[in-house]
Amino acid sequence: MKRTHNASELDTHLVGREVVLNGWVDTRRDHGGLIFVDLRDRSGIIQLVFSPEVKEEAFHLAEQIRSEYVIAVRGKLSLRPEATENPNLKTGKVEVYVDDMEVLSPAKTPPFYIENDIDVDENLRLKYRYLDLRRPEMRDNLLLRHRVVKCMRDFLDSRGFIEIETPILTKSTPEGARDYLVPSRVHPGEFYALPQSPQIFKQILMVAGMEKYFQIARCFRDEDLRADRQPEFTQLDMEMSFVDEEDIIVLVEEMMAEIFFKAAGKVIKTPFPRLAYDDAMIKYGSDKPDLRFGLEIVELSEMLRNTQFKVFASALQSGGVVRALNAKGCGSFTRREIDALGAMAVESGAKGMAWILVQENELRSPITKFLSEEEIKQILAATGAESGDLILFGADQAEIVARVMGSLRLELGRKMGLIAEEELNFVWVTDFPLLEYDEEEKRYQAKHHPFTSPRLEDIEIMAREPGRVKARAYDLVLNGTELGGGSIRIHRREWQEKMFSVLGMSQEEARDKFGFMLEAFEYGTPPHGGIAFGVDRLLMLLAGRNSVRDVMAFPKTQSASCPMTEAPSTVSARQLRELALRIREK
Ligand code: AMO
Ligand code: AMP
Repeated sequence: MKRTHNASELDTHLVGREVVLNGWVDTRRDHGGLIFVDLRDRSGIIQLVFSPEVKEEAFHLAEQIRSEYVIAVRGKLSLRPEATENPNLKTGKVEVYVDDMEVLSPAKTPPFYIENDIDVDENLRLKYRYLDLRRPEMRDNLLLRHRVVKCMRDFLDSRGFIEIETPILTKSTPEGARDYLVPSRVHPGEFYALPQSPQIFKQILMVAGMEKYFQIARCFRDEDLRADRQPEFTQLDMEMSFVDEEDIIVLVEEMMAEIFFKAAGKVIKTPFPRLAYDDAMIKYGSDKPDLRFGLEIVELSEMLRNTQFKVFASALQSGGVVRALNAKGCGSFTRREIDALGAMAVESGAKGMAWILVQENELRSPITKFLSEEEIKQILAATGAESGDLILFGADQAEIVARVMGSLRLELGRKMGLIAEEELNFVWVTDFPLLEYDEEEKRYQAKHHPFTSPRLEDIEIMAREPGRVKARAYDLVLNGTELGGGSIRIHRREWQEKMFSVLGMSQEEARDKFGFMLEAFEYGTPPHGGIAFGVDRLLMLLAGRNSVRDVMAFPKTQSASCPMTEAPSTVSARQLRELALRIREK
């Protein structure tokens, strides 16, 4: 019985036709004289009716089938009798009277219900991922993913980009995470690294004259996993020659508008606003600010320069800052709620969290006694505080205060219900610092990666004040998640070597790791730049999910394992011997 239609195609205009359907038994309801079966295939659900009056044999077979059996049926499409229509189903006006059925496969009882919104342990879902993916919401996520990726390809193809695959067995590409290594059998003791991104190859493709490259690229990073991070994930990776920041930003905005509209029917506003990194850090305490709500952080350092309050004074004297957040309308918080915020601040690295409750005729606060009347007046004015508000303070080094105030801002946004969940809020973050000082290693590290070009006007201060040099880099942020990032690159050997040396790399090390790239740069390299987007993150946000795992077919757990295949796993002694490897005792 070869299928003639998919379930969801069946509609009133086909009534009277004989159809053959293949699929899974979603539910079966035995009404004595009649058996109703919801048949599910990838497209949706259709109701089947088995009646002894239509066909005795099929009816008896239907008494034996259970959920998740795979069946083939032949029957006539009929209008449902009045009052039995199901408006919640696309095919709810029709049903199929079955006169022939075949069981293609029986099925065991699944360990969880094949339906939306189930409440089961995610490990169980991952172990039986093939059942989990039968659930309509998961199927829809994969269908959406397919459409989004297709839109990306179509858009970029229409703009003259070509898709080129780059190697998976390769040399380390630095993106700041640990590498996954693959031992070589042919070269005992040597290893390939799985790419953290195609960064070096895509730049070399520019040297090769490809001009406009893209790839739906698998990347591998051995780092601590979170809801929006997987050890293996997919980037939409792009690179272009003879472009500047504006070209890339405009192209990406057009692409995002097209993808969101064509794949998901969502209209987004372009151009996206832009925010300089320094402003983002001060006002929102994050380089990936969620701008779906206000609640801006206010800089008070200058105002409090001469304060007698020792907590603020000592932070300022040691080069730090004092900033405040006006939690509008939180004046009714209990002491316990304020203490909970304080505990959160300490967890994000604060030494404490001073506060002022602004009430009708008084201020309540553990610190107002240390502040002058003038200082209090200025603080109230700068934060726009009115009766019924709560002001929170952070005093420390700028990075710590940003982190602390940023997490308080997000917590308050959530707690107070300020976040417009439905909104799609894009923002470009620009003017990143090129380098960031690593206290532990006592040297500078690239904020993005070492191939990012400094802003041309900053090149001369590179040697003197590396920390002040800005990068020609840009990140795209959606609803407080970093969706993508890129930059204009360094395209001259001598500048790239200079960059490696600023990063504390010896000439030998630079040549050992990146000699092939430096050499390539000597054969006529076009100025170039690009960007890469997290496809999983984009899908997560588009599908309104909280984890990238829900938009990946076979993701890994928090501990980077796969409950279905049980990877990673041990290997045989023979395989180890072939690879010239020995496992050390733990
Ligand atoms: P970057 O490291 O910012 O840039 O990565 C680009 C985007 O990839 C996504 N992403 C991840 N998604 C899921 N799990 C992960 N572990 C993970 N890590 C990153 C993020 C991120 O914004 N080569 C540069 C791009 C360039 O300069 O062109 C790069 O890889 O959404
Ligand atoms: P203390 O003098 O340590 O008792 O602190 C007085 C108030 O300042 C308390 O409410 C502390 O929570 C708060 N506080 C202490 N350190 C900081 C800091 N680094 N930033 C903001 N508030 C702080």
